[in-house]
Amino acid sequence: MLGLFLWFFAHIFKSGWTGVNERTFIAVKPDGVQRKRVGEIVQRFEKKGFKLVGFKLIQASKELLREHYWEHRNRPFYNRLVTYMSSGPVVAMVWQGLDVVKTGRKMMGQTNPTDSMPGTFRGDFCVEMGRNVIHGSDSLESAQREISLWFNETELCYRDVCTINWIYN
Ligand code: RTP
Ligand code: MG
Repeated sequence: MLGLFLWFFAHIFKSGWTGVNERTFIAVKPDGVQRKRVGEIVQRFEKKGFKLVGFKLIQASKELLREHYWEHRNRPFYNRLVTYMSSGPVVAMVWQGLDVVKTGRKMMGQTNPTDSMPGTFRGDFCVEMGRNVIHGSDSLESAQREISLWFNETELCYRDVCTINWIYN
């Protein structure tokens, strides 16, 4: 049992969940897809220097969404949130890079678009919390949980990019 735990632990670090190999789960919500914000969101992550390792358009089941937002299960908005998130396809993505979890959250802005600075996705693309166009993991632990919930290992592409020495020193 201990051996299995150590193998798993080593595997997580070897497969690179830290440093330049940190990964986060980003989803363009149904309103973002319908309002054609996918291209610009992808472009801003690319321009920043992050690496795309997973991408798919998916009509998520309520079961998946309940699991995804499990931490909010006792909040009054939980059912409304699941209905919103299942109202159309979402674009599920995995992005990789140094501090990508924290930076991804900064790029998104605050939960309430009213509190989000211009230049952030929520500051630029939306006005109401219940239609805030994008999701991003809020910690490394959430990122690991969400990536494994939304993606199979075979759907993720870990590749080298020739720009690495121009992005990291
Ligand atoms: P997300 O998980 O979607 O990236 O958003 P977040 O971390 O900024 O915010 P969180 O607290 O995790 O809430 C998840 C989503 O639930 C909706 N929400 N509605 N009071 C409300 O009506 C309310 N509070 C939250 C938002 O769509 C929020 O993004
Ligand atoms: Mg959240």
